[in-house]
Amino acid sequence: MDTNKFAGIATPIHDFLEKTTKKCFVRCYMPGHKGSENPFDITEIEGADSLYDTDFFSKNAGIIAKSEQNASKLFGSEQTLYSCGGGTLAIQTMLALAKEKGGGRDHVLAARYSHRSFINTCVLLGLTPTWVYPQEYMSAAVTAQDIAAKLNSRTLAVFVNSIDCYGGMSDIAAIAEVCHAADMPLIVDNTHGAYLKFAPVDLHPITLGADMCADSAHKTLPVLTGGAYLHIANKKYCKSAKQLESLFGSSSPSYLILDSLDRCNAEIANHPKKIGELCRKISSLKAKLCDAGYALSTSDYLRITLNCTAMNTTGYVLSAMLREFAIECEYADKYRCVLLFGYGTTDIDLDTVWQVLSANPPMSFAVQNPPAMPKHIKPQWGCVPTKAYFSEFTTVPVMKAVGKICARSASPCPPGIPLVMPGEKITVDCARALKDMGINELSVVI
Ligand SMILES: Cc1ncc(COP(=O)(O)O)c(C=O)c1O
Repeated sequence: MDTNKFAGIATPIHDFLEKTTKKCFVRCYMPGHKGSENPFDITEIEGADSLYDTDFFSKNAGIIAKSEQNASKLFGSEQTLYSCGGGTLAIQTMLALAKEKGGGRDHVLAARYSHRSFINTCVLLGLTPTWVYPQEYMSAAVTAQDIAAKLNSRTLAVFVNSIDCYGGMSDIAAIAEVCHAADMPLIVDNTHGAYLKFAPVDLHPITLGADMCADSAHKTLPVLTGGAYLHIANKKYCKSAKQLESLFGSSSPSYLILDSLDRCNAEIANHPKKIGELCRKISSLKAKLCDAGYALSTSDYLRITLNCTAMNTTGYVLSAMLREFAIECEYADKYRCVLLFGYGTTDIDLDTVWQVLSANPPMSFAVQNPPAMPKHIKPQWGCVPTKAYFSEFTTVPVMKAVGKICARSASPCPPGIPLVMPGEKITVDCARALKDMGINELSVVI
């Protein structure tokens, strides 16, 4: 029998917003628009609960905790916290939790191509990354063996970004095994992979053994921008989680975002097969594109990553062609062009992409001498990131930065992955590589 194990998931936040906005005619509380911008945009009035104060584990939970419990049930976590500050707030909270329980250790073993929200949090918390390099430039796919080799007595936690901007993934199960054998928490930046829980194969980091993970619900699920989850699997991080989230988050979290996270639970529960079906449709589109002569990079279910280098073209050329047909890509660089689909993607969207790509075969966009993927830049630390960030600095042409210490990361956005971090010493090779990557100026410590 085909039963829906999530049937009956309610929407306590949404129900409250509907009821209260019908009942209350004179809004003598914030925000100042008094409902004219959007009636559901309220503040912590009686009954509305409070994001950072609500008690997830209470039997008499308020509406936010009740809704978080629903999300936790869907994702199989010990505790799920909502974030109205995106995956960034979840990453800040996870690293703060690891630091709180870290016994004074201050190094985080991290995949080199982590997002800038990671290095920014290291700056805020006084942490220093020990980098683990993947095989390829910009890939986040680091191996369990490389992580095992770099763990040491100063390591506080392991931080892995999976899924990366091209759709690459790390073997979270293998990394979790290494981490747990060393009694080390595994923190996953799963901001691009909230949907993985409901994919044809459940590859969600919590399922695979991560201690905590950040999911930007807004990136792939039907949630407003800013809506994210912090999922915790390891009980030891639950107690302080809300307090540490409030260290970084706005004290006025948006009820519009909370409402959207709340409704997302019911949407997924009521349509448990929808994401799996979408993933299968994208897989068959990928197969058709390969048959039509497209070279695709291996990517997660929801991305189609055109390997432009292998097709003698560039991501810029293909994304410009798609734009002419009113198709806007998630991300393009010299080497790849990334199309990202999500919960709201329709059959018409997929068919349009197929029609446009099949009518414009990659051979027609060949360029002379397409650039090869660059090599990794591997600078050494000149000082810890916090010290570099809060030192006096000046901005100089990148070749004049040689021998100096980087003060602010250089992160073209998208994808927001820093190429050089505060605290790193700029060598000649590093400066040349940055110049090749289009970075002309750099902020350096005076
Ligand atoms: C890999 C990665 N991590 C973290 C973030 C931050 O997530 P958010 O924008 O939800 O704060 C992003 C944002 O694009 C990202 O790409």
